[in-house]
Amino acid sequence: MTRSVIAVGFITATSGIALAHSGVKNAAVMQRMMGMSGISENMKVIGDMAKGQIPFDGDAARAAALAIAGYAAQTPKLFTAFEMDPKSEAKPEIWDNFSDFMAKSMHMETVATDLSASIQEPQDLGPAVAALGETCRACHKAYRE
Ligand code: HEC
Repeated sequence: MTRSVIAVGFITATSGIALAHSGVKNAAVMQRMMGMSGISENMKVIGDMAKGQIPFDGDAARAAALAIAGYAAQTPKLFTAFEMDPKSEAKPEIWDNFSDFMAKSMHMETVATDLSASIQEPQDLGPAVAALGETCRACHKAYRE
């Protein structure tokens, strides 16, 4: 997971979603950003646990993975319409390659769903962050500024 993703999750958690997204006028863009923020907040739970910044809690870690899977399931829907906003970081290529965008989203869902069942011990968290982070990176690299 990149430092900027952690930073955005931190801002969202501490300052509130409205402030983190201030200036976004397009409601559809706002919704998809909030979906991503939800993913990021849950990723932060698993990441903070992996780093030992919060105590290990298997139920909470699995719940966070399940929440990411839920947001992932919504992601194609949130991006189906071509919507833009000056504050958006979405690349127009999303809508030229929408089946690939959907595949990347479904991959995140599969990885998160598997982790929502398989995380049992503190040692599982590092690989979980790595596996999930890879799904974020794959899509952001192609489709996010
Ligand atoms: C299928 C593609 C895809 C996947 C997978 C994906 N993202 Fe994103 N993400 C995007 C796009 C596109 C944007 C830019 C949206 C915009 O600005 O309109 C974005 C934006 C974000 C943002 C900024 C939201 C804001 O407030 O502007 C965060 C945070 C984020 N993603 C976190 C994550 C994390 C964490 C993961 C992995 C667990 C992840 N994303 C996986 C496509 C994806």
